[in-house]
Amino acid sequence: MRSLWLLSIVSLGLYGAVAVQVGDKFKDSGKCKACHSHIVKQWDNSWHARSHYGNDEYFQKTIDYVARKDNRKSLNTIKIECATCHNPRIAVTSTSAEYEAIAALNLDKDSAATKALQSDTISEGINCVVCHNIDQIHDELPADKRGINRVSWMKSGIMTGPYADAKSPYHQVEQRDFMDTNPNKLCFVCHANDTSEEGHRFIDMQSEFKNSSKTCVDCHMSPRKEGIAATLRNANGQTRKRLIREHGFIGGHVESMWQNALKVEVRKNANSLDVTLVNPQPHALPSGFGSREILIETQYLTGAKVIKNETLSLTAHYLSKRGKPTVPHLAAKTVQSFSIPPQGTKAFSSPIAAGSTQAVITVSYRLVNDEVREILDLKDPIWSKKMVIKQVNLKF
Ligand code: HEC
Ligand code: HEC
Ligand code: HEC
Ligand code: HEC
Ligand code: HEC
Repeated sequence: MRSLWLLSIVSLGLYGAVAVQVGDKFKDSGKCKACHSHIVKQWDNSWHARSHYGNDEYFQKTIDYVARKDNRKSLNTIKIECATCHNPRIAVTSTSAEYEAIAALNLDKDSAATKALQSDTISEGINCVVCHNIDQIHDELPADKRGINRVSWMKSGIMTGPYADAKSPYHQVEQRDFMDTNPNKLCFVCHANDTSEEGHRFIDMQSEFKNSSKTCVDCHMSPRKEGIAATLRNANGQTRKRLIREHGFIGGHVESMWQNALKVEVRKNANSLDVTLVNPQPHALPSGFGSREILIETQYLTGAKVIKNETLSLTAHYLSKRGKPTVPHLAAKTVQSFSIPPQGTKAFSSPIAAGSTQAVITVSYRLVNDEVREILDLKDPIWSKKMVIKQVNLKF
């Protein structure tokens, strides 16, 4: 009995981030195009395809900012920490104190860490061989082990998928429940337990998630529908019909997804306007990353003339350990958080502008609030764009 215990403790320890090299035949999505071109195209438009440092302005500037403020760690060390979820096929999964000393002197150009970060294996971010090369997801590990620390990989060249009876001339296949009946388990490998450098957990989609008849992939890929998984024809010249899902991973960055994502009810009382936001989704909104924002903007009019504008921002604010406003990844604490809980409701009330005859209420979403956009000096208009959830026009 005793030796069994020891064995399980030892193997638990071993699950921590064992990098398995991805063979050249499989490492980039271009290699899958010959037979899965439709899937490659959908994925290529998704933000999973942009999760690498070089492809997402917001991610890149956050890393640079964290490295500038945190003088115990080098830029490469921060990049490797973030790669845990943003680039989980990275070959180096942690750095040592010796490495920090060398990096501080700029002598790390030929180090394994620098090479791993420059490798083209990770340049596509969360690509096919991140999800489809996972062998096991270790939900028995503590909640803070995520991304690369929560999975063990298949031998390179074996693709895990939803079908038990697939055959491919290019790669071996194996079926897994997290590709079929239990896909949330796959998403929670990374969409959970976001924690700052100070150990402050600023978002945890897994603990907030409410049981639902729908899974993440029903809403963020597509419902299962008839199609083909591979364009390769069999000996009879035919492709095989399958139940498939789309690979767009559409979410907060996609304007059309926000239309009616919340139910908006507006009521006029004697002197006040009451706005109720109802969230039918199984996770909070905003959720996901920590600086997202929902705006309630009210424009009061008398006839055609605008007499007053009001804005209410529903977002989270973070303070550093020195008590200054900061980005989520340096937060020591959250001072305010205003998201609409899963399958929950929040109501807001404000006095009606005197003399107004009409109010136009616009509820919208922004990827990054004013505070964090300014701290990081984000330039791309996508971060400040207001994506409309609903507009209500009320005549008094
Ligand atoms: C974030 C994880 C993730 C990434 C990245 C990903 N897939 Fe998938 N893929 C899935 C899941 C989950 C399913 C199972 C869908 C279902 O429930 O049937 C799936 C299904 C498939 C299938 C079966 C047919 C279908 O469309 O349902 C193929 C083939 C496939 N993926 C290929 C690819 C290729 C090629 C890439 C890279 C361009 C890729 N996948 C990237 C998660 C992913
Ligand atoms: C030469 C053609 C070809 C290439 C190249 C190819 N595949 Fe496939 N793949 C197939 C065929 C055929 C199937 C089986 C389809 C079916 O049964 O409907 C398949 C099935 C799959 C499945 C589903 C497996 C299951 O058991 O559910 C996944 C996932 C997958 N491929 C991923 C990839 C990835 C990732 C790449 C690129 C690294 C890739 N494939 C390259 C032909 C190919
Ligand atoms: C290996 C880690 C990982 C896994 C596994 C993963 N994701 Fe992601 N996902 C990310 C990261 C990191 C981003 C942010 C990329 C960026 O914006 O640069 C992201 C972005 C997204 C987005 C876009 C969010 C937005 O605001 O536009 C959606 C939707 C999404 N993921 C859904 C899923 C679903 C559904 C699954 C499960 C099938 C899944 N993800 C599995 C890490 C992961
Ligand atoms: C019933 C449908 C539904 C299910 C199930 C669902 N979502 Fe969402 N999710 C939405 C809608 C609607 C939005 C808001 C519009 C958008 O961003 O797509 C959203 C937003 C998001 C965002 C961006 C949020 C933000 O505020 O920045 C992420 C990331 C996300 N979902 C991930 C997930 C993951 C991971 C799961 C499973 C654990 C999941 N979702 C399950 C419907 C769903
Ligand atoms: C536990 C896994 C995990 C780790 C570790 C992680 N992230 Fe993320 N990150 C995610 C997921 C999942 C998303 C997508 C959520 C969404 O879009 O709403 C994301 C999204 C982001 C975004 C928003 C990107 C966009 O396009 O809007 C930024 C910025 C970001 N992460 C920065 C970082 C930094 C910096 C680090 C390292 C200090 C890091 N992340 C480490 C999981 C992780």
